[in-house]
Amino acid sequence: MSLAQRRILLGVSGGIAAYKSCELVRRLRDLGAEVRVVMTEGATHFVSATTFQALSGQPVRISLWDAEAEAAMGHIELARWAERILIAPASADLIAQLAHGFANDLLTTVCLASAAPLYVAPAMNQQMWAHAAVQANVDTLRQRGVHLLGPASGDQACGDIGSGRMLEPLELREAIVASFGNAVLRGRKVVVSAGPTYEDIDPVRFIGNRSSGRMGFAVAEAAVQAGAEVTLVAGPVSLATPPGVVRRIDVRSANQMRDAVVAATAHADIYIGAAAVGDYRPAEVADHKIKKRDGAALELSLAENPDILGTLAAQTVRPFLVGFAAETHDVERYARDKLARKGLDMIAANQVGGGLGFEAADNALTLYGPDGAIELPRASKSELARQLVAKIAERYVAVRG
Ligand code: C5P
Repeated sequence: MSLAQRRILLGVSGGIAAYKSCELVRRLRDLGAEVRVVMTEGATHFVSATTFQALSGQPVRISLWDAEAEAAMGHIELARWAERILIAPASADLIAQLAHGFANDLLTTVCLASAAPLYVAPAMNQQMWAHAAVQANVDTLRQRGVHLLGPASGDQACGDIGSGRMLEPLELREAIVASFGNAVLRGRKVVVSAGPTYEDIDPVRFIGNRSSGRMGFAVAEAAVQAGAEVTLVAGPVSLATPPGVVRRIDVRSANQMRDAVVAATAHADIYIGAAAVGDYRPAEVADHKIKKRDGAALELSLAENPDILGTLAAQTVRPFLVGFAAETHDVERYARDKLARKGLDMIAANQVGGGLGFEAADNALTLYGPDGAIELPRASKSELARQLVAKIAERYVAVRG
């Protein structure tokens, strides 16, 4: 069991169970996690910031308006830094704020600003926990994908007996460890390309494609969750960087993407080319807006773009190469052909259309390698990405150790 280099943001709200969160910081750090603590103002009435600072070895943040702390690590940076946010204890008030999307202190703001999975460990009097308002808020959070940890039943600090006790530190730690799954790519450097490329025609027009970047971003996130150090090279997309991605390089054209990918893969173990790279670009880019000429057709002369996977495959020392093949027909034939022609280690093929592929939330893939095909049936792109990364890791470990 390890949490080495895992970045956990521990949110502590106002409740007597905050004293157990001191122990929790110790136990998380025992497994190698980096822990940063954000307290609500209420929490400071139960445990002092100095205690958490000493235990975490990091400055503790409380206020959104602390200019000095913001200059060191701003709240948005803190939100991006976190791979997991664990709120323990979560008071009834904090749960209400989360359910309604308030951002009136640092902790609630960070929760809204972060894409990291959120784990909430409620702790309150049993009567409060049973209240319909609290239960409705908890249901809202659950439906939104927030992970509720506990509460447990038993003796309460207020003398009551019932449901509302915070889970024990080791139980909370176990949930966080389990959330990272099996870190099969720990210590591996993975580069993922995602999104479309835009090839400029003139200062206002371009040739692009319908790739949303979501599959590639989901693959990057899944690789992070599998323990890899991930660089994401993104074409023009409006997607937030998945938590834990160490470097994101934004590019526009295929040439820019090739340069960024070649540089980023110089020391990489695996390259996953999920970008929909344009095959052609205008041979010349006009430096002024091309005027409409009534009645006359406009002819664009196109030049071929570099093949990024092909460029990497031609290198003597090359990362393990995984390509994507999005096809409207004859998927298997084209995919197998690409696998061989581009000299890839694996290729993930999908049929575009029918609610799958580009711009869609779901996808289905068939993964081809030298030893056959693996079907990954229809699922959300994030679920599919997890399965895909697991298969890539299996194959990578088999051939490269
Ligand atoms: O041949 P096709 O474009 O369908 O191949 C798709 C795969 O090849 C994707 O993995 C894509 O990222 C990669 N590709 C590339 N460079 C190009 C075109 C595609 O690396 N110029």
